[in-house]
Amino acid sequence: MLKKNISLKPYNTFGIDVNAESFAVVTSLEQLKKIISEYKEVFILSGGSNILLTKDISKPVISLCTKGIETHEHDDEHVLVTAQAGENWHEFVLWCIDNNYGGIENLSLIPGNVGTSPIQNIGAYGVEIKDTFYQLEALEIETNTIKTFTASDCNFGYRDSFFKREGKGKYIILNVTFKLTRKDHLLRKDYGAIRAELEKTSNTDPSIKDISDIITGIRKAKLPDPKEIGNSGSFFKNPVISKAHFEQLKQSYPKIPSYPAGKNLIKVPAGWLIEQCGFKGKRFGDAGVHKNQALVLVNYGNASGKDILDLAQNIQSTVKQKFDIDLEIEVNII
Ligand code: EPU
Repeated sequence: MLKKNISLKPYNTFGIDVNAESFAVVTSLEQLKKIISEYKEVFILSGGSNILLTKDISKPVISLCTKGIETHEHDDEHVLVTAQAGENWHEFVLWCIDNNYGGIENLSLIPGNVGTSPIQNIGAYGVEIKDTFYQLEALEIETNTIKTFTASDCNFGYRDSFFKREGKGKYIILNVTFKLTRKDHLLRKDYGAIRAELEKTSNTDPSIKDISDIITGIRKAKLPDPKEIGNSGSFFKNPVISKAHFEQLKQSYPKIPSYPAGKNLIKVPAGWLIEQCGFKGKRFGDAGVHKNQALVLVNYGNASGKDILDLAQNIQSTVKQKFDIDLEIEVNII
């Protein structure tokens, strides 16, 4: 079942060329359980959209490609929709929109698969997966048995969950269930660029499809398509700093953008900080900083994981020096 010495370049959106000593595409739970019972330690590669591969991988690499979407009745207003881990996230979003199930339209065009979406609690344009998450099933590697996780078990935070912390490396997410609206959808359209587009088209009563189309347009304009240029979306998290620190920075940088982030805390966009340090659009060999969104690091073709990581560390130390802010990497470094 396992193939030997496979390049993982086509299997990660950064397009980094590392070797997997052994590799299998898995399309069923039975196959997965069989591999787990034999090998115990495996490396799960789902959409490969939130990792930076910096070295060859000796554990068996599993590309989890299980497919299927099912609905379950819930109540008049809601439906429960379960998608298998290997479903492409954006195709799943479009499927929900086609069926008039609302709640995840703002998460349109996020790269990756359903199975990895809860790990970093994917989010965009005012919505996070935790807002519609109902439950997930995961295979516990140690016991090779299935466990169910509720939202509180997942302990979701900003780009964060149990699966990035205590649960790291211990579970394989098999499927995720969302609780979506069947009618009276709660549209989240406050984000500036969404509102601007609605006003431009005089659309006062947008559908979930309209919102999805607008967000798809915004993302296409701002973010590089991994099929054209390797990337993993936002490379860093937006840092949260104290109000006092923010006020001090505001004296030198009156235009610094910010969002409230709890009592006496302010979130500052990492993209802005990186741009202020002069990195936006810069290229260092085949590693670079995207020209439209400085939060996204890109591989122009043959960058290694180390080239990207070196650039990230250069950015971190420059931002630290200029703003006294620590940028935390959001992508999983392998
Ligand atoms: N900005 C700059 N320069 C840049 C990029 C941004 O000055 O190069 C400024 C913008 O002008 C704006 C602010 O930073 O004032 C925020 O920018 P944007 O709206 O593009 O959002 P972001 O905070 O940079 C976050 C998410 C994105 C998500 C968008 C929209 C994180 C780490 N990133 O980016 O998520 O699409 O908001 O909701 O929270 C991802 O996780 O991969 C991702 C793309």
